[in-house]
Amino acid sequence: MKRDLLTILDLSTEEILRLIDKAAKMKAELAAGCLPKTLQDKIVGLVFLKPSTRTRISFESAVLRLGGRAIFMTGQDTQISRHEPLADMARVLSRYIDAIVVRTFAHSDVEELARFASVPVVNALTDHSHPCQVLADLLTIREKRGSLKDLTVAWIGDGNNVANSWIKAAVRLDFSLNLACPAGYEPDSELVGQAARGTNGKIKVITDPVEAVASADVLYTDVWASMGQEEEAKVRLKAFKRYQINGHLLSCAPPHAIVLHCLPAHRGEEISSEVLEGPQAPVFDQAENRLHLQMALLDWLIGSKKL
Ligand code: CP
Ligand code: NVA
Repeated sequence: MKRDLLTILDLSTEEILRLIDKAAKMKAELAAGCLPKTLQDKIVGLVFLKPSTRTRISFESAVLRLGGRAIFMTGQDTQISRHEPLADMARVLSRYIDAIVVRTFAHSDVEELARFASVPVVNALTDHSHPCQVLADLLTIREKRGSLKDLTVAWIGDGNNVANSWIKAAVRLDFSLNLACPAGYEPDSELVGQAARGTNGKIKVITDPVEAVASADVLYTDVWASMGQEEEAKVRLKAFKRYQINGHLLSCAPPHAIVLHCLPAHRGEEISSEVLEGPQAPVFDQAENRLHLQMALLDWLIGSKKL
């Protein structure tokens, strides 16, 4: 049976940990020049209705490095722009290619594609979640910290798609997650409620960034206005003023804490340039791990099929 990755909750705890192990192994194989070409004869379609640097190129690179081919499509150059139903597109693409990677607005769109596609569908970011980002971030945290045990992550800023994926990761891996968000910008309340009940209070939504980072191993932030929210940018700038990761906030965290950002970053808004460029923020190692995690994911879904 085909597997999709629409949210992190599509994976079991065991599968997440194995995926991270596999990504680490493939990263080493790539460095040693002995990466197996497990996507030979496979074609991966990338349907992107929003801009992307990291996700698009790391997926394309992952496919090419594993010996497969990638076809990139936007809304404009497909019949999506003329409102062809996604259910039809899913069934048509499934006759041509081996997996569909989608970046779009409504999460229900990836669900619709997955329902009708007979090949795996991977969420490359929706308004609701960004699972590939957070899975790769877990690899980065494990590399930098040595383990994912007894982990505390502090999310600072908007309760957005990446924050929702952090909540789902915390549910599966049972780590502590403190989300400091301004009132009115909290993550999906239904998700928070379910997560908080299922994890004995390990997931907390609060308003004070200092409280959130006090015992954190990882400080994490993202832009204050996500793609599609450009018109709210001015209002958000005011609402999020207190939610910048800067030298002061970092000094309130334990000295070993690292700072992650999914990028692209807006220096001087959600993060100061000093912190982003500083020794505690391995954000380019973090961006690199998107490639390795997605190589592992594609190999599992359509290559060797082993995890
Ligand atoms: N972090 C991330 O998904 O970046 P892109 O928008 O450039 O893909
Ligand atoms: N929350 C951001 C993430 C970008 C990678 C957005 O959706 O624009």
